[in-house]
Amino acid sequence: MIFVTGGAGFIGSNFVLDWFAHSAEEVVNFDKLTYAGNLNNLESLRTRKEHLFVKGDICDREQLQALFALHQPRAIVHFAAESHVDRSILGPGEFVTTNVNGTFSLLEAARAYWSGLAPAARDAFRFLHVSTDEVYGTLGPQDPPFCETTAYAPNSPYSASKAAADHLVRAYHHTYGLPTLTTNCSNNYGPFHFPEKLIPLMITNALAGAPLPIYGDGQQVRDWLYVGDHCAAIRRVLEAGRPGQTYNIGGWNEKANLDVVHTLCDILDRVAPKDGGGSYRTQITRVQDRPGHDRRYAIDARKIERELGWRPGETFETGIEKTVQWYLSHREWVRDIQSGDYLKWIEQNYFNRNAA
Ligand code: NAD
Ligand code: DAU
Repeated sequence: MIFVTGGAGFIGSNFVLDWFAHSAEEVVNFDKLTYAGNLNNLESLRTRKEHLFVKGDICDREQLQALFALHQPRAIVHFAAESHVDRSILGPGEFVTTNVNGTFSLLEAARAYWSGLAPAARDAFRFLHVSTDEVYGTLGPQDPPFCETTAYAPNSPYSASKAAADHLVRAYHHTYGLPTLTTNCSNNYGPFHFPEKLIPLMITNALAGAPLPIYGDGQQVRDWLYVGDHCAAIRRVLEAGRPGQTYNIGGWNEKANLDVVHTLCDILDRVAPKDGGGSYRTQITRVQDRPGHDRRYAIDARKIERELGWRPGETFETGIEKTVQWYLSHREWVRDIQSGDYLKWIEQNYFNRNAA
């Protein structure tokens, strides 16, 4: 079986669903269920006996060790993290606790378990750490995209905490021989994306007739990858990645934020026209920029293609169309999330931002 952390979050739940679409191998899904964890994402697995959900915190090393001893995983796939850059700016402490201390605690529990395995199981074991392209910092318009040897230069408390975790993972391979794999991926989008992030926030705000808040001039560039493609890449790295290696994962889809929002408005104008006419673009509002906002991310994903044969299956055009359709047909999922806590976040992040 495999042990997944953070499998009730956006990418983790997509990964677990995707796993069972391709395999009958058991999954222990270990998640703290923070505001970002949502068991509704896993509703379709309710009767699947190979899926075992356990609520817990990756900082709790004893609980992790007991679960490893009980379930004897052949691999750990580590998604659990605090993941939202704006939240890391307003409250960095939780990011250090979960992303740095939590990854350390998971590594220690994994090392203790792995050290006690028989030689063949030790060789076959994998610790796959899911990380981000943000560890590389920011690019100028003409810079080449990030590759696996680009120096780390994280700029936000979120990316710094992920960079620290990546370094710990690297050290556990180098020092103890733990068979680790690290993936650094660009911006994901797709089903179950929490509506605090750009794409789902814009879709849900547009449909609610609310403002579409663009930070600064909206010319910041991100590389976008459909979440299903990220899941396929992780499965492939787990299957055939070389221990100790890192793999960059990206969509070859660089877009400026304002262009992304224009695209979303245009799709919505076509598939869910506004009552009373007019374009959703009229809801776009410029707001104060994110402090320390990285200007551009871009990924050179040639290593994973060359070594493991992975390439994204979706273009931005196909992926974004699917994503809008998913939000249109899952309005209840969005309504369930828009709880008191979520509304508090919207107030904290946006109501105190001056218009730009
Ligand atoms: P998310 O915020 O949607 O989900 C995180 C999950 O981790 C939630 O289910 C949450 O309950 C759980 N969690 C948080 N703290 C925990 C703890 N202490 N113990 C156990 N579980 C805990 O995040 P996401 O967007 O799905 O990202 C998943 C991973 O992928 C993260 O490590 C993130 O850094 C990385 N990543 C994300 C993106 C992206 O675009 N979203 C891109 C590249 C890499
Ligand atoms: O690059 C990978 C990273 O992508 C992941 O590691 C992070 O976990 C994930 O959250 C994401 O980080 P970003 O900061 O790029 O994503 P976000 O959706 O928050 O913002 C995308 C861009 O849109 C960014 O330039 C900020 C801008 N933005 C965002 C919001 C929420 C706005 O202009 N307005 C907004 O309201």
